[in-house]
Amino acid sequence: MFLNTHFSKAKKYWYMGKLYDWSEGIFHPMIHALHYGTCTFEGIRSYPTPRGPAIFRLKDHIDRFFHSASVIKMKVPFTKEEIMEACKLVIRENGLEGAYIRPLLFYSYGNLGLVPKFCPVELVIAAWEWGAYLGEAAERGSNACIVPKRRIHISQMDLSAKLGGTYVQSTINGIEAREHGYDEAIFLNLEGRIAEGPGENICIIKNETLQTNDRSESVLEGITRTSLLEMAPDVGLKAKVAPITKEDLFGADEAFFCGTAAEISPIVKVTDFSEGFENGKTHIIGSGRPGVLTNRLAEAYQQIVTGKNPKYEKWLYPVKD
Ligand SMILES: Cc1ncc(COP(=O)(O)O)c(C=O)c1O
Repeated sequence: MFLNTHFSKAKKYWYMGKLYDWSEGIFHPMIHALHYGTCTFEGIRSYPTPRGPAIFRLKDHIDRFFHSASVIKMKVPFTKEEIMEACKLVIRENGLEGAYIRPLLFYSYGNLGLVPKFCPVELVIAAWEWGAYLGEAAERGSNACIVPKRRIHISQMDLSAKLGGTYVQSTINGIEAREHGYDEAIFLNLEGRIAEGPGENICIIKNETLQTNDRSESVLEGITRTSLLEMAPDVGLKAKVAPITKEDLFGADEAFFCGTAAEISPIVKVTDFSEGFENGKTHIIGSGRPGVLTNRLAEAYQQIVTGKNPKYEKWLYPVKD
């Protein structure tokens, strides 16, 4: 019996074409993905809009999902259209509006060699109401820390794929940052520049220019980040994609994490532990409070995702056709 204590309003999940009660567990302990992280996932949000709940940039998420699957050599057992419909169905069946949607493809039960020769690829989709990923830090601004371990390098893994195993690094460092009293971790890349958060991209604002980095800096080029680059001029910001050095971050007027789960979450303080946790220097970002331009961008983003800006209707996929 599985309680939905930390999955607010989740009643049913979808597995291989059928809906199951949330409390029902149906997986064997020897499924391949459980042992080696041989799975890929998406993180998608729906929002209430005047046309009912709508899923933000669903097609882009599902395109990325298929790309991730190809990186881990999976043959996806459904079409993109079927998966998009299933995501909408899960929102409808759970009676959700603002929700987080988690499609997961995994190598299932078959054999346990590292090569999943006899493991079918299976798909599950769950959804629940999930508030601000960084909790109250989303309001007051994050006190983040640069962790000593460098981000996995783009030459080592394809970071444009959201693969379960790759996220172990995010989990370890997310836990470590919190153990040391910080809201979130920031990774440097092997070159010593800012990469990203464990599950978020990083943006800075300097002289009314929004800046973020790209895949060459060992980051996932997030869909939120890409949306913000497109809409920045609407709120009077120039947009630029370029590497971010530590000095750029410490000297920024404003900085924030962005991602589907975190949305836009200001960073107000950063402690640099890149030389080890015993050896940190703290930097206040800008005024030390969530920035005016960050807030303006976050408001504009909320208007878009909740269907109040017709210019960006193209990004919304209503769940009731
Ligand atoms: C490592 C990492 N970077 C960045 C992001 C932001 O990506 P998106 O905006 O597509 O959610 C995510 C979240 O998916 C992530 O896991």
